[in-house]
Amino acid sequence: MKTIVIHSIHPGEGKTKVAKELAGYLQLQGHSTLLADLDFVTDPARRALGLPSTPNLEDLLEEITRQSKINPFFNINFSEEQMNQYLLTHNSGLKVLSSENAKYLASDERIAEKLTVVVRSLKKLPYDYLIIDTDSSARDYNQAIIQEADHVLIVTDNFRYSVKDLRHYVMKMHDIGFSTLNFKIVLNKVPNPLQVSIEELEQESGLKVIGIIPVLTKGTKAATMQTEDINLTVAEPDKNPEFLQAVKDVLAAL
Ligand SMILES: Nc1ncnc2c1ncn2[C@@H]1O[C@H](COP(=O)(O)OP(=O)(O)OP(=O)(O)O)[C@@H](O)[C@H]1O
Ligand SMILES: [Mg+2]
Repeated sequence: MKTIVIHSIHPGEGKTKVAKELAGYLQLQGHSTLLADLDFVTDPARRALGLPSTPNLEDLLEEITRQSKINPFFNINFSEEQMNQYLLTHNSGLKVLSSENAKYLASDERIAEKLTVVVRSLKKLPYDYLIIDTDSSARDYNQAIIQEADHVLIVTDNFRYSVKDLRHYVMKMHDIGFSTLNFKIVLNKVPNPLQVSIEELEQESGLKVIGIIPVLTKGTKAATMQTEDINLTVAEPDKNPEFLQAVKDVLAAL
């Protein structure tokens, strides 16, 4: 299974949008795909896919906490059947590990180890792709998640301050011993010529831009915020051909 982690340096850059559309596209192409929302910080009203609120990541983490009282983390294992109890199914067929707001988890001093158990357990499941959505904090638990990835996609715009922050982030990751060879940039929202050029962005960050996601125009009246969350843009290719192309470009570059 290929594991793709979606991350960004700032909140609201489009991680959740990119994660669900990549996962949805892969699923619709006939690849069995698992989307894991490992963001327990962001307001759940802004989360994607409009699935029921349970079971979720918090339930799985509780079970890991329970087991960690008798087993070291590296010895905690879940069978496929046990893991399936925590997964939901989206109308596209996509399997989802959902997440609700559980900000207190960020102050759990073992959260990085617990999330490592989560990701390793998900990786053992028989899917073609695992797509992981994260929050944008520079916390140890996100580094633990990134450590498990085959590919890390950094979603960003090309405003000068974003590019500067991205450069610092990459430098910091190198300082703490991470290779960023498997990190790529997904530019979200068509680049503004007044901002940093793609060439400069690649040069500054040392990362390659593998896709440019266009700005989507807001849905019609019939498509409320909620249905926009549930529906996949990639499921309506005729309406947004440029968006679909960007998703294809990203996947082709991995
Ligand atoms: N290309 C785009 N065109 C139009 N709207 C977009 C695009 N990308 C993202 N959005 C919208 O911008 C908002 C923020 O995107 P999203 O929730 O995916 O960001 P995020 O990085 O996951 O945020 P957070 O850090 O809070 O989790 C959402 O309402 C989303 O639908
Ligand atoms: Mg998000």
